[in-house]
Amino acid sequence: MGRIDRLIAGMTLSEKLGQLTMTAADYAVTGPIVTPVSENEIRSGAIGNLLNLYGAGPTQRIQKIAVEESRLHIPLLLGFDALHGQRTVFPIPLAEAGLFDPASWEATARAAAGECADDGLHMTFAPMLDVSRDPRWGRVAEGPGEDPFVGSAFARAKVRGFQSISLADVGAIAACAKHFVGYGAVTAGREYAATDMSEDMLREVYLPPFRAAVEAGVAAIMPAFTDLNGVPMTANTHLITDVLRKELGFDGVVISDYHAIAELLNHGVAADLAEAAALALKAGVDIDMMSDAYRLGLPVALERNLVAMADIDAAVYRVLALKERLDLFQDPYRRGRADTDPSAQSRALARAVGARALVLLKNEKNALPLAARKIALIGPLADAAGEMRGPWGGAGRPEDCVSVLQGLREAGLEVRHAPGVTIDGDDVSGVAAALDACANADAILLCLGEAALMSGEAASRAHLGLPGRQQELAKAVFEKAAGKPVIVVLFSGRPLAVPELVSGADAVLAAWFPGSEAGHAIADVLTGKVSPSGRTPVSWPRAVGQIPVFFGERPGGRPFNPKDHFTSHYSDVDNTPLFPFGHGLTYGDFELSNLRVEPGDPLTVKVDVANHGAREAEETVFLFLNQKKPGVTRPVLELKGFGKTSLAPSGRGTITLTLPQPAGRAELFVGPNAAFASLLSLPIG
Ligand code: GLC
Repeated sequence: MGRIDRLIAGMTLSEKLGQLTMTAADYAVTGPIVTPVSENEIRSGAIGNLLNLYGAGPTQRIQKIAVEESRLHIPLLLGFDALHGQRTVFPIPLAEAGLFDPASWEATARAAAGECADDGLHMTFAPMLDVSRDPRWGRVAEGPGEDPFVGSAFARAKVRGFQSISLADVGAIAACAKHFVGYGAVTAGREYAATDMSEDMLREVYLPPFRAAVEAGVAAIMPAFTDLNGVPMTANTHLITDVLRKELGFDGVVISDYHAIAELLNHGVAADLAEAAALALKAGVDIDMMSDAYRLGLPVALERNLVAMADIDAAVYRVLALKERLDLFQDPYRRGRADTDPSAQSRALARAVGARALVLLKNEKNALPLAARKIALIGPLADAAGEMRGPWGGAGRPEDCVSVLQGLREAGLEVRHAPGVTIDGDDVSGVAAALDACANADAILLCLGEAALMSGEAASRAHLGLPGRQQELAKAVFEKAAGKPVIVVLFSGRPLAVPELVSGADAVLAAWFPGSEAGHAIADVLTGKVSPSGRTPVSWPRAVGQIPVFFGERPGGRPFNPKDHFTSHYSDVDNTPLFPFGHGLTYGDFELSNLRVEPGDPLTVKVDVANHGAREAEETVFLFLNQKKPGVTRPVLELKGFGKTSLAPSGRGTITLTLPQPAGRAELFVGPNAAFASLLSLPIG
């Protein structure tokens, strides 16, 4: 009999339920209830896992209690939301997805894992893999964007980065892919609302990133708060047991979201904690995060024969097996050696990735790179270091972040700063000083957008314009610019519907939330030290009324035709997005040509690239497919690949991609984004 079986055979019910319980400490507040962690319950074995505790000292101390003072000496599993960095904060996942670079996605996860391990953590509740086409939903910031192919590549890279080759590696931590599944389709973009979709939609759009995470060996999965087609994910036997465990072969640990098991009562599917606990356990949920439903409800559920001890033992086995894979039994103190501040190496990575995540949405009149040295830096996000972390800044500290003001001054520019207005306030008394600053400058930089906590969890918005009185500030600056270049740096956790802002500016740089090295990364791109290469992984709506707007729609029987009134369109706004998926300008001037396909399975797809610009730059191209299937309509574009190349001025190259042989008639498209006008096409099959 192995170690785990021997342990289970000797455990009391309370000790078993302790291994199925994860309680929150208060180093971060990520849910509605925070109770102080009871050291006595750790000693008694009634708590076997914690979240929201980090730091070498605190984690080593609490682990010592579990290992040396409890009856069975079972180490604690310590988890935290290090979504895009721990002490060094990288760009938010939505921004990082826009690099379209799996090697970079893996590198930042590995760096985060190392800092988490130094902080004594064993698990991160990441990657967040919820595809979403609704920017009203604040959590679009945490995910890989609108497309499942990108989400799947993101999943593989992040799991590899966090988990390394073996979870026993000292710099490895367990990844917990979340939120299983379909959370990004909440009704009306409203947080925690119900989700409804066909099985086809589920399997084509929302499930693929989780399939990819399982194939990459993800150690844990977290079900979503939401119900899908009337069945709460936390009690969804079909999707957790039949699909995730049996069909996809997931053999890891399923951890509920925060307090979600108890919230089955709010869903109306359980009359008390015992029923809620039984539903979740039978569905396949192993750990109860922060609801006490398992500790208080499962003893009653056993008495009522709603569950069997074998169900509990199976869950305990999976939790102990994860602790064994993490080498916690052999060396419970291996992680948590020393508190780490951002190292020069991790800062260099954050600066490079931060610059590559920036998306140049517009650049006219050669506004960028900046030619001027005397800059008016206007707006509430110009000197806002803490906001640069985004809504899930982990253990990143504001004092470790570089603001735009600091970055520009360190780049040697002469900067006069005036906030003008606050992010969300009504006070416009600062506008006059802002205009005064503009009068004495050669170029004007407007740093506008959302506060970090206006996106992320519990942050849905029904309007997607600039908060507060920022648009008025921008309008006043545009009117007084007197021919000086006006560049907007736009901070947000989602695509914003800002057509007026875009039309008034000479250049617009979408910065999302770039992380610890924001100011340096932005200065590098604005001054031309780095050529922008980021692409938007989501379509930008012109108006909230367009949502969901995404490239993978099906054609319908009357696709838009400007010459025919009776075709699919709005009477008051253009059908197309403000900016299409994949859009992003560079400081180069790229031309694609000579699209060709070489036979084989997979097919080899090649396209030539030329840089006619005066600066080195990186081009990204996307490979789409339009498939024709008898009797079944298909999306007008399905993303099947992407590739990149950097070219010097007058440089030429070829990007080579592969494509599984499509079954039946198909047409392939290659281009710099998902706008049909920019695509080269070739019929195949
Ligand atoms: C939160 C989030 C989840 C997070 C968890 C722990 O409510 O939904 O993404 O991992 O609680 O902080």
